[in-house]
Amino acid sequence: MKVSSDAFAGLQSQKPDALLALIAQYRADPRADKIDVGVGVYRSEAGDTPVMRAVKDAEAVLLSEQASKSYLGAEGDQRFAQLLWQLVSGSNRLGTRCFGLQTPGGTGALRVGAELLARARPDARVWIGEPTWPNHAPIFREAGLQVRTHRYLGATGGDIDFDAMVSALTEARAGDMLLLHGCCHNPTGTQFSQEQWMALAGLCLQRGIIPFIDLAYQGLGDGMEEDAQGARHMLAAVPDALLAYSCDKNFAVYRDRVGALFIHSGTESSLELARTNALTIARSLWSMPPDHGAAVVRTILDNPALRTDWEDELADMRRRLQIVRQGLASADPLLAPIATQRGLFSRLPIHADAIATVRRTHGIYMPADGRINIAGLNQTNLSRFVDGVLPHLPGYRGNSASDPSAPQEVSA
Ligand SMILES: Cc1ncc(COP(=O)(O)O)c(C=O)c1O
Repeated sequence: MKVSSDAFAGLQSQKPDALLALIAQYRADPRADKIDVGVGVYRSEAGDTPVMRAVKDAEAVLLSEQASKSYLGAEGDQRFAQLLWQLVSGSNRLGTRCFGLQTPGGTGALRVGAELLARARPDARVWIGEPTWPNHAPIFREAGLQVRTHRYLGATGGDIDFDAMVSALTEARAGDMLLLHGCCHNPTGTQFSQEQWMALAGLCLQRGIIPFIDLAYQGLGDGMEEDAQGARHMLAAVPDALLAYSCDKNFAVYRDRVGALFIHSGTESSLELARTNALTIARSLWSMPPDHGAAVVRTILDNPALRTDWEDELADMRRRLQIVRQGLASADPLLAPIATQRGLFSRLPIHADAIATVRRTHGIYMPADGRINIAGLNQTNLSRFVDGVLPHLPGYRGNSASDPSAPQEVSA
C-alpha cells in the first residue's frame, strides 16, 4: 500500500518579497513618465545599469587568456582577496592577523561570518541599528543567533544621534557582536563621522564587543579611501573583527555575486581556528565560490590601466549621485539632509499611505519604508519626483496630512 505523505505541509507560509512585487507593479505601469526609486542598483543619467567599461575589458582579457575552469578551492581566489584587502586597509598584505575568504557577494560573507560567530559564541547577541538592510537580521537569525536592535537615528530620521546609540548599546555584553555599515548606510544614507568611528572602536575595545563591518558601497560615498576610513579606525583598534565586502555595487557586477569575508584576529592561533572553521562553513554552503566576477575584479585591480579606468568611472557614478543629492536638497529645506547623506539611498519620512498615493497619482515607485534610490532620479524626472512627494512630507507648508511612517520591511 502506498503511504501518502505531504512532505512540505508543515512549513509556515512566507511573506512574498515586497520589493519584487513593487518591481512587477512598476513594469506593468504603462505611464511613460513613471519613476523607479525602489530597486537598489545604480542607474546612469539615462536610467540604465550599464556594465562598467573596465569590467567589459577584463571580461575580454579573461575570455582570451583563461586557460582552465578547474576548481579553485573553498577559499576562492586568494589574489582577489589580497587585492580587495588593499582597498579596505590600504595595506598590501593580508598578513598573519587577517584571512580573506572569497564569497558569493556581501550576503555570502555576512552569512559565513554569522555562522562563524554561532560556532564560536552560540550565546552571543548581534546588535543591529534599526532601520537597516532588511536581510541583515534574517542572516543572523538563520545562523541561530539572537538579534537585538538599537536606535541610532535622531528624531527626524535624517542624521545620527550618536549618544542615543551609545546609550542603547550599554546592554551589549562582552562577546556580543555589533554590525556596522562601513559607509553609505542602506537605507538611510547616514554615515558615522571619523570621531564617531573612533568612539565606536574604543567602545568595542573596552567592552569586548566584536565589530562586524558591512562594507557594501565603498567608493559610492566620498571616495575609495574616504569610505574605508571608518573600517580602518576599527581594525586598527580592536583585536578581533569581521568585515563583509561586496564588489557588486562598486564594480556593478550585481548578478555575478562578488564579495569576500575578512577575518581579523588578535592572535595567529585564533586566526587559524577561525580560518579553518570559515572554510568548513563555506564548504557546506556552496563548496567553492563562483569564479567569474571575482576573476574580473582581480583582473581590473591587477592591471594599472583597467584600474584607473574603473576608478574614473566609479568617480563619475559618485559625482552623479552627489549632483542628484544636491538637486533634491536645494528643492526644499525638508529635503536638505539628503545632501549630507551618502551612497545610493536616503529615506523619506513619508507615510505608507502617501507612498501608495504617489504611486497611483504620479507613477513614483518606492518601497513602503520610504527608502529612495538616489540613482533612480535624473535631470528629467527630479522635479516631478519632488513635486510628487514634497506635499506628503511632515512639516510641508503646514500640511499635516502625513506622519513619519512606521518602517515596513523591504527585502533588497
Ligand atoms: C548594506 C548591504 N550589505 C550587504 C548587501 C549584499 O550585497 P550583495 O548583493 O553583494 O550580496 C547589500 C545589498 O543590497 C547591502 O545593501
